[in-house]
Amino acid sequence: MSIIYNEINKIFFLNTNNTSYQMQIDELGFLIHIYYGKKIIGDASYNVILKDRGFSGNPYELQDDRKYSLDTLPQEYSFHGSGDYRATAFDVKDENNVSGCDLRYKSHRIEDYKYSLNGLPTVYSDNAQTLIITLYDKRINLTVDLYYGVIEEKDCITRAVKITNLSQNDIILSSAFSTQIDMLYGDYDVIHFYGRYARERTKERAHIKHGRFSIGSCRGASSHQHNPFIIVAQSDTNEYYGDCLGFSFIYSGNFSFVAEKDQINQTRFLMGIQNERLEYSLSKNEIFIAPEVAMIYTENGLENLSHKFHDLIRNNVCRGKYKLIRRPILINNWEATYFDFNGDKIFEIARKASKLGVEMMVLDDGWFGNRNSDKESLGDWFVNEKKLGGTLKELSEKIQSLGMKFGIWIEPEMINENSELYKLHSDWVLKIPDKNPVVSRNQLVLDFSRKEVVDYLFNQIVKVIDNANISYIKMDMNRSLNDIFSAVKGKPSEGKILYKYMLGVYDFMERIINKYDDLFIEGCSGGGARFDAGMLYYCPQIWCSDNTDAISRIHIQYGTSFGYPISSVGSHVSAVPNHQTGRSVDLKTRAIVAMAGNFGYELDLSLLTEVEQEEVRQNIKDYKKYWSLIHNGKYYRLNDCETDLKKAAWLFVSKDKTEALLNVVNLYSDHNEPIEYIKLRGLDDKAVYNANGKKYYGSDLMYAGIPLEFMEEQYKAYQIYFKIK
Ligand code: DGJ
Repeated sequence: MSIIYNEINKIFFLNTNNTSYQMQIDELGFLIHIYYGKKIIGDASYNVILKDRGFSGNPYELQDDRKYSLDTLPQEYSFHGSGDYRATAFDVKDENNVSGCDLRYKSHRIEDYKYSLNGLPTVYSDNAQTLIITLYDKRINLTVDLYYGVIEEKDCITRAVKITNLSQNDIILSSAFSTQIDMLYGDYDVIHFYGRYARERTKERAHIKHGRFSIGSCRGASSHQHNPFIIVAQSDTNEYYGDCLGFSFIYSGNFSFVAEKDQINQTRFLMGIQNERLEYSLSKNEIFIAPEVAMIYTENGLENLSHKFHDLIRNNVCRGKYKLIRRPILINNWEATYFDFNGDKIFEIARKASKLGVEMMVLDDGWFGNRNSDKESLGDWFVNEKKLGGTLKELSEKIQSLGMKFGIWIEPEMINENSELYKLHSDWVLKIPDKNPVVSRNQLVLDFSRKEVVDYLFNQIVKVIDNANISYIKMDMNRSLNDIFSAVKGKPSEGKILYKYMLGVYDFMERIINKYDDLFIEGCSGGGARFDAGMLYYCPQIWCSDNTDAISRIHIQYGTSFGYPISSVGSHVSAVPNHQTGRSVDLKTRAIVAMAGNFGYELDLSLLTEVEQEEVRQNIKDYKKYWSLIHNGKYYRLNDCETDLKKAAWLFVSKDKTEALLNVVNLYSDHNEPIEYIKLRGLDDKAVYNANGKKYYGSDLMYAGIPLEFMEEQYKAYQIYFKIK
């Protein structure tokens, strides 16, 4: 039993293999957070100490007891109106716009399954329990159900919240975070992954001082700028040692993460939908669900935390046929042609690629409507047969005759004003009356909060899929949302639309995956602007960044690796000089970096020399050989390539420790440089590993380390394959 309720002291115990989470219903019916961390045997309620702090208010029924204050007590789900002046998880306004409530315990139930959330992505497991604690507010007449999922073997605790308006009147939610963790003491850093277009997920570590620290996105998507995977670590935690707690928001829209260190050195962490744009009206009996956050704690450092998240996301978030198998090695025409192609050109790219071992041709943007630039035709999902010189079916069949699969790019959420769809349904666009909308990449956003819009796009895309032999879809989304106003009659509010928009996107994707079991979907959003666990519930892989430069990718993939498995990363070898950075890097280096993901190509292979083409053939063979080790093994970051400017080194070790693949890229070159050493990780220390004709004990590789090959040239790379014989 991973969830236990002790009736006597009213404590809930949530236990995973290595962690404990505890909370208590106190005498007043408030839910007090007691503990989250390494597994303990008893209960830690003795740590919650009442003390008069002055200027910290008391509940009305305890007005003579100045020691009891929700301003200082650790809580499970704080709310505005309780006298807690820290960032609060929950706030609601009644029909007269008056905010403030009083949430008290009402009931709870424990179930022997992992809950799911209607219309939203969640962690799933056949081996989990659920706790639902219902809090009630008398004044407004609403319930707040706190959902806890406990996946014991994964050391994972999930949280979500369901709010139900039981009153006769409309109310407005203005804050409804999904999780709150109040730590009684500790000195914390927040490790987060910020970025920008073409440079996503850069690791940054911020020490939490007194006051509030917050990051998030209000772009309607999880964004390039901040990622909804965040780590809270003790200040002395590093890769291999120390306490850390990861939060992964299983949602792809607006989000917020808040850390606040208070007057008595307690720290509160909140994660959920951003309040800044949340104005969610609920009519009688209407429900709002705050999406799920998956949390994992470990005392064994960031490496161990990443391993646990990799396992969770790959096995308990990703779904479908492709979640665990090797995906086809693909070639995508985007960087080879951009919009300038016809059917013959695409076939030629595929023909050349098929000879070298590539398994799938992906036709990117520009095959539909009259789309020859990014100025037109988004929304017109009918095939441009003139441009292709035939039907999509004919092209797909020709490509299949090469022994390859065929896939296409789509961007269903977007529309160009210059499109047939806009002529028919200009009211389907998010725009504010009497204001010109903000355009981005010449496009506007379709109102996916409306079912009829989602239905239409779904039917259009289904027609395309049904009329050709399509094995793969790259589902793109190329702008941030703005002008959040729906033409639907009633009282549309910005906060409600953004959330419903996300539900519309999820509904679209769910319907596609339900209809086509065999279809492989890759997520994309101008590269990696929607690289999050919510999307991974619908597609097992996401295009990591539009920056295909191998050296930039080292950093982007390094940051991504903290919260997401290798199997979720789309990664391609592209041409040099690189189109984004102008940098020229060896084909070998490009291949080694692209192998730390789902390998593919994004260039015209016929422009390579014979020698290079032979190398491509070999790289594809190598990837096939190493695929299982790379994807099913454990991934180890061997250095911090944000601070180590000399090299990047990472390692894959099979779960049974019998084989390993070391990857090294030289980032710096100078005359007479000191030798660099690296220590391997995760090997069997007593076993003998063979590599390049030499024998090494695992212990020697891990503790004595090995010198890196002397590479005079910057950006050279190599791999070493180790195997126990
Ligand atoms: C943005 C994507 O990230 C690119 O890979 C490409 O598909 C373009 N969109 C096409 O418009």
